[in-house]
Amino acid sequence: MAEHIISLQGVTKEFETKNGKVTALKDINLDIEKGDAYGIIGLSGAGKSTLVRTINLLEEPTQGKVLFDGHQLTGLKSRELNLHRRKISMIFQQFNLLMQRNTLANICFPMEIAKVPKKEALAKAQDLLKVVDLEDRAHSYPSQLSGGQKQRVAIARALASDPEVILCDEATSALDPKTTRSILGILKQINEERGITLVVITHEMEVIKQLCTKVAVIENGEIVESGEVSEIFANPKSRAARKLFFPDDERTEIPSIRTANRNRLRLVFDEKTANEPVISRMVLETGAPVNLLYANMDVVEDEQKGQMVIQLSEEPDIAEKQKRFLRREGIQIIELSDFNGEVTE
Ligand SMILES: Nc1ncnc2c1ncn2[C@@H]1O[C@H](COP(=O)(O)OP(=O)(O)O)[C@@H](O)[C@H]1O
Ligand SMILES: [Mg+2]
Repeated sequence: MAEHIISLQGVTKEFETKNGKVTALKDINLDIEKGDAYGIIGLSGAGKSTLVRTINLLEEPTQGKVLFDGHQLTGLKSRELNLHRRKISMIFQQFNLLMQRNTLANICFPMEIAKVPKKEALAKAQDLLKVVDLEDRAHSYPSQLSGGQKQRVAIARALASDPEVILCDEATSALDPKTTRSILGILKQINEERGITLVVITHEMEVIKQLCTKVAVIENGEIVESGEVSEIFANPKSRAARKLFFPDDERTEIPSIRTANRNRLRLVFDEKTANEPVISRMVLETGAPVNLLYANMDVVEDEQKGQMVIQLSEEPDIAEKQKRFLRREGIQIIELSDFNGEVTE
């Protein structure tokens, strides 16, 4: 059986505010396996930060249990809790470095707290600088570093306590796309080479596609869908997932001709099925034209995936023929008729 390093069971979190009760998390059930790169995606205010903070009990759930490596954390006294917490590091959007300390001293900080001998700590910090490719910045202060460099320091600091899990809360949201890619590359390497479990909180699909193998979609404090990234990408079931993964579907909707939406399909191609020739062959075989509304290539988990939105024939018989052809070709098809509020889930 797969080993769950993190397990949330029926976790609900309510906040009391001046304006009444806010339910930030509703009955969250989530299992994360050792070595996962697990993404949690949702829009702003969905409950992502609250969720990630309940994992290390920075937020205490109002209801439900949090287990880490089989140990129940909820209800533990702070001394015992801290023993487990040491195995969970965290990195943030705003880096949270100590401004009065240089790079090496920032990386040494968690080791100071754990009372690691100074010499040993310094040697380890030097090693970690290599992991994040920042050897030439050992003596710089945070104010002298770029955003990407600051996040590298934060990653090295997170690694200093030999964690089993790193929680990343919008770790690349303050960075430009190029810097984001390099930071995601470092995180991926840490996950793959050291087997460290990553929990990646983000509102950006790109982050999930580049770094994660599994994903949970959170909306209004609830997990509405979860599974393998490649599967959800190919066939998102919840409205929230579709919006996050395929924002362009909305742009291809033409509200004034709603009925036409009935004939719209999204096709998802993988590496093996080339897309253009399939469409040409479909036109040849069925003798009816199709309207190509949108096409795009994406890289999901290092695999090329293509997607296309097409409009089938207005003739039901021909449209059926077209769909049969696509199915026979082994192409994933998703009907868009229920998209954009036509059918509610
Ligand atoms: N300490 C708090 N007190 C009151 N409400 C909070 C607190 N923290 C978060 N919330 C509320 O909980 C909801 C989820 O917030 P958050 O977890 O920060 O979402 P996200 O990280 O997805 O943007 C929001 O409605 C937010 O206003
Ligand atoms: Mg947040």
